[in-house]
Amino acid sequence: MVVTSLSRIALLAIAGGFSFIAPSHGAGDVERGAQAARTCMACHSFAPGRHLTGPSLAGVWGRRAGSAAGFGRYSDALKRSELAWNEKTLDAWLRNPAALIPGNAMLFDGIPDAGTRNDLVAYLQAVSGGRVVPPAPGLPNLKRVDASSQVSAIRYCGDAYRVLTGDGKTRIWWEFNLRFKTDGSPEGPPAGKPVIVGTGMQGDRAAVVFARPEEISTFIRRECP
Ligand code: HEC
Repeated sequence: MVVTSLSRIALLAIAGGFSFIAPSHGAGDVERGAQAARTCMACHSFAPGRHLTGPSLAGVWGRRAGSAAGFGRYSDALKRSELAWNEKTLDAWLRNPAALIPGNAMLFDGIPDAGTRNDLVAYLQAVSGGRVVPPAPGLPNLKRVDASSQVSAIRYCGDAYRVLTGDGKTRIWWEFNLRFKTDGSPEGPPAGKPVIVGTGMQGDRAAVVFARPEEISTFIRRECP
């Protein structure tokens, strides 16, 4: 009788000790987390200050939600949440962002698998702590493109744009397949020097990226060959 209760106490102590060393989740696998993080890279970078659809995740561990410097597109819901990002809050966010912070702006259904979330959280912690080097942002640096991507002139005629590039070539685009974008970040094109980037699967679509919106209409000339 006495022996039984003693051994139960001992067992409880062991179990308690374990849960202290390795909290209920256990340490996730950083390498698997890096694989899983590819889904996130469509919208996030890990480069400090490089914001895409979502804020840069550099140093996210321990940071207050909605506080990445220079990201001006946070939802009010996220800013008002008063959460700090840690193992528990990140796990809940990645399981179901809309349930944790209703009305937030991250269009992401969530990851149902607890193991995958655990790996991702371990990865986010490792990157924030500088223990793992994150991949470079998916977007190219538009200040460092070769001549074939540098746009020297755009002419508009009929239903088409003729785009002349720095290598002396002209390509003709149906007007509906050519987009005009801006990238005012430090990685955006130099002022007055737009860059063409392919976006379509078959090469039938592209985007011309300008440094500033004011450049767009002044750069395009109405002229037929
Ligand atoms: C479709 C684009 C998209 C995808 C995919 C995406 N996010 Fe986000 N994420 C956002 C946006 C937008 C916000 C800002 C939400 C807001 O302001 O409500 C955000 C916010 C966050 C935040 C809060 C950051 C802060 O500064 O408070 C974290 C953490 C985060 N995302 C992690 C992830 C992770 C990890 C993944 C991959 C599993 C991921 N996100 C996938 C767009 C995305």
